[in-house]
Amino acid sequence: MRICVVGCGYVGLVVACSLSICGHSVCAVERDQKKLSLLRQNKMPFYEKGLQAMLLEARKKNALTFTDDLRTALENSDLVFVTVGTPSLADGRVDLGQVRSVAEGIAELATKPVTVVMKSTVPPGTGRALCEAIFSKASVPIKYVSNPEFLREGEAVFDWLHPDRIVIGVNNPSDAEGLLKVYQHIEAPKLVMDVTSAEMVKYAANAFLATKISFINEIANLCELVGADILQVSKGVGLDKRIGPSFLRAGLGYGGSCFPKDTKALDYVSSFNGHSFNLLKAVIQVNAEQRIRVVRKLEHALTGLTGRRIGILGLAFKPGTDDTREAPAIDIATQLLSQGAIVHACDPVVELGPSHHLSNLTYKDPYEAVKGCQAVLLATEWDMFLRLDWSRVKELMEPPYVVLDGRNVLDKDELTKKGFMYLGIGR
Ligand code: UGA
Repeated sequence: MRICVVGCGYVGLVVACSLSICGHSVCAVERDQKKLSLLRQNKMPFYEKGLQAMLLEARKKNALTFTDDLRTALENSDLVFVTVGTPSLADGRVDLGQVRSVAEGIAELATKPVTVVMKSTVPPGTGRALCEAIFSKASVPIKYVSNPEFLREGEAVFDWLHPDRIVIGVNNPSDAEGLLKVYQHIEAPKLVMDVTSAEMVKYAANAFLATKISFINEIANLCELVGADILQVSKGVGLDKRIGPSFLRAGLGYGGSCFPKDTKALDYVSSFNGHSFNLLKAVIQVNAEQRIRVVRKLEHALTGLTGRRIGILGLAFKPGTDDTREAPAIDIATQLLSQGAIVHACDPVVELGPSHHLSNLTYKDPYEAVKGCQAVLLATEWDMFLRLDWSRVKELMEPPYVVLDGRNVLDKDELTKKGFMYLGIGR
């Protein structure tokens, strides 16, 4: 099939590379000239595990081209995947500017019938509105399919190949046919439903996962007060098949470009529709407070923050990505700095631009970052931090040798034996 993918972020590139590798001819559209030029040289504009190799494979097959011209890309395409950004506005609403402008572009430039596959995360009701206001007015028939993505950053390639389910929202059952063909080699339940329900599945799934995280963080906070160990508690709870073990890791809370944005957007949609989603409001609040608690813990352990030197291990919102959007580490570092602490940070892949307020404080070598620090906060559970030589770290640090394990991944007994003051989350 001839496929056009609009937007070369981590979702768009995974879609474009995988579809070209499995035999489709793909033209990917990217308007950012810097990104476009890198991609044309087979270079990745960001880090995503396994994707560089896929890009090379797709390009070797001559099955993937890049352009900034939507008209050319549309010329021979049967399916157009829309994978552009839907960032948050200050009030929690989703900024649909990019989605709308792509939709208008497709409606204006399409010269033959085409199916638009919306993979960007858009609030329930958006598909209906786009069809009414834009696609129904095009000069050629345009079918609209909502196909939310459930890819995790850092695991996007794996998730694409092994999804738990594929959700397809359509106005007419026959509109799903082209997309079902594209996914025929992927083994997973394929659910065909109406467009608005498909949009809702995406938000409900992310909101539920975020709820699990905030819930387990609250249990962890309570564990600290009653003297229980959250690792044992999570295990005991997660073995109940009705609950399941995933997303029960207590820590610094969720970050990234999805959960924070999508929970706020769903809260906004609820209020807009006259419903106060109190549970979701609490999830968002607990997540914000989890970061503040860590700052308070460091303040308590160091008897104040002014002039204290604190090393932060990890800046990405989770391992496997260089994404720092809504990353707990960035927020915590900013708060520590504002309270007079001296912050050093280390991340194996994150490159903060020169204008970023933390860029001068960032090291690639963790041992450089912890030098002279009275406390170290493990904020992202990168492998390199799990394999640190803690005896060497101790030699480089200064008393009282605080290690705040923000992801509960370090060996508490070993660190305590070595003379560190170990603090976890809920342990
Ligand atoms: C999330 C969803 O998992 C994907 O299914 C979805 O497609 C994606 O959002 C999206 O909407 O685009 P992602 O944000 O990449 O994926 O990351 P996750 O692996 O889900 O982690 C999100 C955050 O939750 C991270 O900050 C992680 O550290 C935190 N987390 C996760 C916990 O604190 N505890 C856990 O037990 C699990």
